[in-house]
Order: sequence, then C-alpha cells, then structure tokens
Amino acid sequence: MSEKPIYKPRRKRGWLWFLGILVGVGIVALAVIIPVYFVLIKPHQSTASSDTSGSSGNNGNSNGSGGSGNNNNTTTTNGGQPAPAFSGAITGGSGSTVTRDDGSTFVYTNNFGGTWYFDPRNPFVDGARANEWTPALNESWQWGVDVVRGVNLGGWLVTEPFICPSLYEPYQSGDFAPPYNAVDEWTLSVAMNKSGNVTQIMDEHYRTFITEDDFAAIAAAGLNWVRIPVPYWMIEVYPGEPFVPHLAWSYFLKAIQWARKYGLRINMDLHTIPGSQNGWNHSGKLGPINFLFGVMGIANAQRTLDYLRTLTEFVSQPQYTNVVQYFGIVNEAFVQTIGQPQVEAFYLEAYTLIRNITGVGAGQGPFIGIHDGFIGMQEWAGFLQGSDRIAMDTHPYNAFNDPTTASLASFIPSPCTGWGPELNTSMAQFGFSAAGEWSAAINDCGKWVNGVGLGTRYEGTYPGSTTVIGNCSVWTEYDTWSADTVQQTKELVMASMDALQHWFFWTWKIGNSSVTGNIESPSWSYSLGLQQGWIPADPRDAVGFCAASAGVEMNDPTSGLSAWQTGGTGAGTIVAAQLASFGVWPLTAMNSATGLPYLPPASVADLPQYTPTGAIITLSGPTFTTPSSTQTADAGSGWADTADTQEYFVPIAACPYPDAWDAQSTTIPPVSLCQATQVVRAKRSPEPVPEAMPTPPPMVRLAKA
Ligand SMILES: *[C@@H]1O[C@H](CO)[C@@H](O)[C@H](O)[C@H]1NC(C)=O
Ligand SMILES: *[C@@H]1O[C@H](CO)[C@@H](O)[C@H](O)[C@H]1NC(C)=O
Ligand SMILES: *[C@@H]1O[C@H](CO)[C@@H](O)[C@H](O)[C@H]1NC(C)=O
Ligand SMILES: *[C@@H]1O[C@H](CO)[C@@H](O)[C@H](O)[C@H]1NC(C)=O
Ligand SMILES: *[C@@H]1O[C@H](CO)[C@@H](O)[C@H](O)[C@H]1NC(C)=O
Ligand SMILES: *[C@@H]1O[C@H](CO)[C@@H](O)[C@H](O)[C@H]1NC(C)=O
Ligand SMILES: *[C@@H]1O[C@H](CO)[C@@H](O)[C@H](O)[C@H]1NC(C)=O
Ligand SMILES: *[C@@H]1O[C@H](CO)[C@@H](O)[C@H](O)[C@H]1NC(C)=O
Ligand SMILES: *[C@@H]1O[C@H](CO)[C@@H](O)[C@H](O)[C@H]1NC(C)=O
Ligand SMILES: *[C@@H]1O[C@H](CO)[C@@H](O)[C@H](O)[C@H]1NC(C)=O
Ligand SMILES: *[C@@H]1O[C@H](CO)[C@@H](O)[C@H](O)[C@H]1NC(C)=O
Repeated sequence: MSEKPIYKPRRKRGWLWFLGILVGVGIVALAVIIPVYFVLIKPHQSTASSDTSGSSGNNGNSNGSGGSGNNNNTTTTNGGQPAPAFSGAITGGSGSTVTRDDGSTFVYTNNFGGTWYFDPRNPFVDGARANEWTPALNESWQWGVDVVRGVNLGGWLVTEPFICPSLYEPYQSGDFAPPYNAVDEWTLSVAMNKSGNVTQIMDEHYRTFITEDDFAAIAAAGLNWVRIPVPYWMIEVYPGEPFVPHLAWSYFLKAIQWARKYGLRINMDLHTIPGSQNGWNHSGKLGPINFLFGVMGIANAQRTLDYLRTLTEFVSQPQYTNVVQYFGIVNEAFVQTIGQPQVEAFYLEAYTLIRNITGVGAGQGPFIGIHDGFIGMQEWAGFLQGSDRIAMDTHPYNAFNDPTTASLASFIPSPCTGWGPELNTSMAQFGFSAAGEWSAAINDCGKWVNGVGLGTRYEGTYPGSTTVIGNCSVWTEYDTWSADTVQQTKELVMASMDALQHWFFWTWKIGNSSVTGNIESPSWSYSLGLQQGWIPADPRDAVGFCAASAGVEMNDPTSGLSAWQTGGTGAGTIVAAQLASFGVWPLTAMNSATGLPYLPPASVADLPQYTPTGAIITLSGPTFTTPSSTQTADAGSGWADTADTQEYFVPIAACPYPDAWDAQSTTIPPVSLCQATQVVRAKRSPEPVPEAMPTPPPMVRLAKA
C-alpha cells in the first residue's frame, strides 16, 4: 500500500540480462546531413484567408508592420526591396484563423484568453500568450509565483517503446526475435537500418508524432510549458553509434517556433548522454552505466560537457532565451550507482561552464535544472547554495511501487500527504523545484510499461515471481472504465497537480499500438485524459484540492522564492563550503574505480580522457523562406558567447579507447597514450549580481560582446 508514495525510477534497468548483443553491427554513417530547412509558408493561395470575422477583438488581422516586438534585429533580404506583404493574420485569439507553417489553416480555439503570434517577416517576435494567467513570452516569467503547468513531449525526439509502440513492434520477431529485437533507440536504429532507411523512418516519426497542432492544443488545454526530451545525437554521433544524427535538431527548431507561436515556454531536457547515465532504454541504450562510472566515465562526461556547451550557446541567443527558459542538463542520472559527490562535481562543472556563457542574473540564459537522481529532493538541500538559477527536478511515480491490490480511491490523498511536503521543503531549502515527470498510473499495466525490475509485476509475469495482482486489461481498456474510475483517476490527477505545484505530466501523447490499434497505456496520456474526462479541462481546478480533500495546505505560490534563487541580489556567489566540496574536476574518486570488486583498484587519474583540441560544433537556427522571395530573418550564429573559443573534446588519436558504452569492467588503456591537458575552469561565477542591479528585462541584450 502506498500511504506515502516512494520515489522510484520510472523504468528500472534490466542490464543484468543484457549482453551487448549487437557489438559490431553498427558502423555508423558519417553524418547524414539533413539541412536545417524550415519550410515556413507553402504557396499561399491568393485566397489565403485574411478573414478577420472570427478573430477576437483587437488581435485579429494585421499586416504585421508593427510586429517587431522587442527583437528589432531582423534583416530582410529581398533584393533590397521590402518583403512582400503576407496576407494572413499574424496574431489572434480564440476564433481567429491561424496559418500553419505548411500553409494550411485552422481556426484557433483557446477558451482561456490565449493568443497566438507569428509574423513570417519577423519570426522571432515573442508576442504570444498561452492563456490569460500566463505572461506573454516577451514578459518576465516570475519564478515561484507564476505556476508551471506543463506536459512532456515524450517519445518524440527520444523514442520509447511504451510511448510509440508502433515504431518498435515491427522489430520483435523473425530476424528481430530476441535478443535481436528493438528495446531502445540504439537497437531500434540498427533494426530499422537493417530492413529499410532508418533516416526516412525516423523522419516520418518526427514529422507525424508531434505537430504544430499539438502545440496549439497544449496551450488550449490551459497549460503554459512543454518539457521536451532531446537526444545528444542531434549534435553528433561517434563512429559505432547507430542513432540518426542531426535530424532531431531540425525538429527541435520547429518546436521552438511552434512554442513561440502559441506562447509556450520550453524546458529542454537532455535525455540521453554518451555511455548512458542510467542504463534505461530511454537513455538511448539499455545496458551498463558509463557516465561518471567505469573506465570511460570521465571521457563520456567530457563529451557531455561539450554538448551542454553547444546547447547553451544556442538557446542563450536573444532569439531563443524567451522561449527556452529552462535547461534540464542530465535526465535521471542514476545517483545510487554513480555516487552523489561524483554527480555533484559534474553539476558544478556544468554550472560554471553554462553561467560563463550566459552571464549571471535573471534573463541571462536559462534556468539550469538538475534531477534528484531518485535519492529524494531532501538530499540536495543546500547544494550550490548561492548559485544563480538552478532548479530541482523530481519524478514521482506511483506506477513503480510494488504492484498492489490497493484501490484507485485509496491512492488519491497520497500525493497531498507524500509529495506535497517534499516539494514545499525543497522550494524553501533548495530553490525552484518542480516535478518534471509524473503520470496518472498506479501500476505497471500497459504495453512495455511493465517489467520494471522490482522483481514483481501486476500480472505476475516477472521471471521468477509468482504473485499475481490482477488482469491488466482492467487498467488498459479505458473505453470500458466506469464513471467512478474516470472520476477517481481525475481526483488522483488533481491531487498530484495541487501537491506538485509546478509540474510537467508524462506525457502529452501515447501512440497507438500497431498490433491492437489502441492506446495501450492510457493513464500516461494527457491528451487522451482530456478527451475522456480524467484530466481536468482547466488545470487550475486542482488548486486547493489537497486542502479540501486531505486537509493539506500547499505553498502559497505568490510567496515566491528568495531573490538569489531567481537571479536577483546575491545570485552567483556560491558558498565556500560547496565550492570546496565539489569544485574539483575531473573527478579524483569514482565509485567504479574504488568501490567495485571487478575493477582493479586504480586511480581515477589513470582513466582515459578526451583532448580539448577539436573543432567546436555550432547548431544552426531555422531558415525562413517564402516562394516569392528570399526572406532571411537573423536566426543567430548559434553561439551566444563569442568569447567562448575553447576547442571541443575529441578522442586522442593514439589512445585505444574501450567501447564507451560497455566499459565498466574493461582494462584501462595505457595511461601514457590517453591523457590530455585539461581545461580548468575557475569555480567562481565571475560577477555575482550586485546589490542594486535592476533585473534586466529579457531580450534587450542582442549579442554578447
Ligand atoms: C524499456 O525498459 C523498461 C524498463 O526499463 C521496460 O519495462 C520496457 O519493457 C522496455 N522496453 C522494451 C521494448 O524492452
Ligand atoms: C546503415 O547500415 C549501413 C550498412 O548496411 C551502414 O553503412 C550505415 O552507416 C548505417 N546507417 C546508420 C544511420 O546507421
Ligand atoms: C496588407 O497589405 C496588402 C499589400 O500591401 C494590402 O493590399 C492589404 O490591404 C493590407 N491588409 C490590411 C488588413 O492592412
Ligand atoms: C510583446 O509583443 C507584442 C506583440 O509584438 C507587443 O504588442 C507587446 O507590446 C510586447 N510586450 C512587451 C512587454 O514587449
Ligand atoms: C535514406 O533517406 C535519406 C533521406 O531521405 C536519404 O538522404 C538517404 O540517401 C537514404 N539512404 C539510403 C541508404 O538510401
Ligand atoms: C507548505 O508551505 C506552506 C507555507 O507556504 C504551509 O502553509 C503549508 O502547510 C505547507 N504544506 C505542506 C504540505 O508542507
Ligand atoms: C484478461 O482479461 C481479458 C479481457 O477480459 C482476457 O481477454 C484475457 O485473457 C485476460 N488475461 C488473463 C491473463 O487472464
Ligand atoms: C488510435 O486508436 C484509437 C482507438 O483507441 C482510434 O480512435 C484512433 O483513430 C487511432 N489513431 C490513429 C492515429 O490510428
Ligand atoms: C544583428 O545580429 C547579428 C548577428 O547576430 C549581428 O552581427 C549584428 O551586428 C546585429 N545587428 C544589430 C543592428 O544589432
Ligand atoms: C570563461 O570562459 C573563458 C573562455 O573560454 C575563459 O577564458 C574563462 O577563464 C572562463 N571563466 C571562468 C570563470 O571559468
Ligand atoms: C533596437 O533595439 C535596441 C535594443 O533594445 C534599441 O536600443 C534600438 O533603439 C532599437 N532600434 C530600433 C530601430 O528600434
């Protein structure tokens, strides 16, 4: 029984049985370069609607000349002529006609006062507002006061079997019978490439699984943020890694533009890390952990730091800072294995790197999110106290407790009594805290949800376990749910929303199974719950639910956070004890090198490293074109901080590195061949926010000198 829900990993690793089945299969193509080409407007018929009849109030139609917003650095090149007039509306509220980026149109419905905004001549204007209680993108988000109500776009740019089963189902039998079946994106990519064109299949998935209409629907659902899991392979892959490189980036750029259009803010979450940070299938590869752990633990972390740098440099450009306001730097690093001090030292290094790019103080680049690693938020109280805008991310799930006969109704108060106080405490002791993931599920029913590795399953199908709790079809066949079940699920959802205060549901959409034609994990789909009635149409309805139903009061959000916790006075001066504890990088001690029996006791200093002598990788922004002109908006250079010229980590040519994804117990290669001079970052933020400095409004800084 789950009186007090415990913090359990979403999906437990099953790497004991996983034996590196596909060694040698993946010789990866050198970058299949997919040009980042963003078709903005298909030939819009001369009839293209400039219909204002349905648009609300003063927001209806405009030719957009007044749309320069707060970004006036937009160059228009059209043979020296002004860009041709765009005949559609550029902004509107509920009832207005929106032109999608493929040129088609639809009527926007947003019952909460949200407005969309997109001017093709000025595509970086942040004029949209998700709903009336959310600041427009060009207004400041008040951390700790404005309430984050968001959803994840899980299964889109990082695929997962249970979210998009139809992608994985073709690769489970025949040539792909276990152990050659697709269980993670690594094996999926190998299988797809074996039987077809993996780039084309993934492109089709990216293009169809989440579209512009989803962003419009998310805003219309009374939400104001999206958390978007992204893979490192949208930046690059190393030889041997089968993931499709680069392609996901072009879709993340679309996500930025769609979020901007409908007034949504983005939490960009780096979900996969070279070598895997947790061994689960959603880290890219099911198997051993090789991030800060094992022989390649330092090298994989060095590679990761560069990806954090490239992403920070991009999203901290003035065109993007108002949209991507939160950067979750490593999803679910498995702290129990890696070790908390090790993860903390990495986070301090990443923090230093990121704030050196963005500068310190509100509006200077994104919040930096770190995950609690499933050890509980209280273990992070005081971590990097005095730093500038770090946030705590927690993923409370009921689904991964031991399967239980407890009724759905008996779960309803548990978020209020269990999660609520933890969030309250973390807001006070750490700073801004939010649940980056949670769902409406109370058990592991659902195709590929189960098998979590607790040693039991709801249907008793875990190898070696005989306890049967029940038949999962009761939980998966949502069209047979009674009115009571729908109502109780809704109450559990409302309790969770109220208790978590700032949250991102996991996930917006669960795709159909191609085998059954149905959604097999209904409790994990926000959009389905909205349709079926177990997600409230107005998420504000949840406010006060815990007080009314369980007598538990939550934080008054308007009480806010301390100034230093939101980039105000004092932000950027990390207390000395924290710097002393975690300020050494690379690590000098690792769990794997000292604590595990199967590795020879070796010095962490002997582990192979990469060398910072490679070319920097910069990501490009979107290109806007119209058929009748070449219209180029300044999408930025991809690099916010021109002073950041440090070269990229690359392999040392002479070093015989072991497999970066399977190096927990391998021999350490010769030290003399594998060491490089490392970058040393001063672990002190250069300029803390001074006493009287006013909070700079976002977007005034066009380029960092
Ligand atoms: C992905 O991993 C989770 C547990 O981590 C497991 O429940 C699920 O079945 C896995 N999916 C596949 C296709 O193996
Ligand atoms: C697909 O497989 C071919 C060999 O059949 C290989 O050359 C190529 O690099 C693979 N592509 C990807 C993206 O893995
Ligand atoms: C928009 O501009 C076009 C061409 O300049 C003009 O014909 C049209 O009347 C304008 N529409 C509005 C609503 O101002
Ligand atoms: C935000 O953008 C809209 C549309 O351009 C503009 O009307 C509004 O004045 C802007 N607000 C701020 C605070 O800049
Ligand atoms: C796979 O599809 C991509 C994108 O359409 C194309 O560029 C590439 O050449 C194709 N690869 C093969 C091996 O056909
Ligand atoms: C949360 O904090 C508020 C004060 O802001 C307090 O009134 C309330 O009792 C706390 N709730 C819980 C569940 O700890
Ligand atoms: C579970 O119930 C469904 C539908 O009633 C039935 O088809 C299925 O055989 C049952 N499964 C088990 C393992 O009993
Ligand atoms: C998915 O399945 C549902 C039934 O569960 C069906 O209504 C819907 O049309 C399907 N969607 C797609 C895209 O096939
Ligand atoms: C506009 O931005 C570009 C590159 O981001 C920069 O080179 C240029 O100086 C800027 N122009 C103005 C007027 O700020
Ligand atoms: C910030 O980065 C620059 C350029 O890479 C470097 O010279 C400087 O030492 C860094 N500052 C800190 C505080 O790390
Ligand atoms: C462009 O923006 C800058 C910074 O906000 C401002 O100083 C300048 O006056 C603006 N230029 C125009 C032409 O609006």
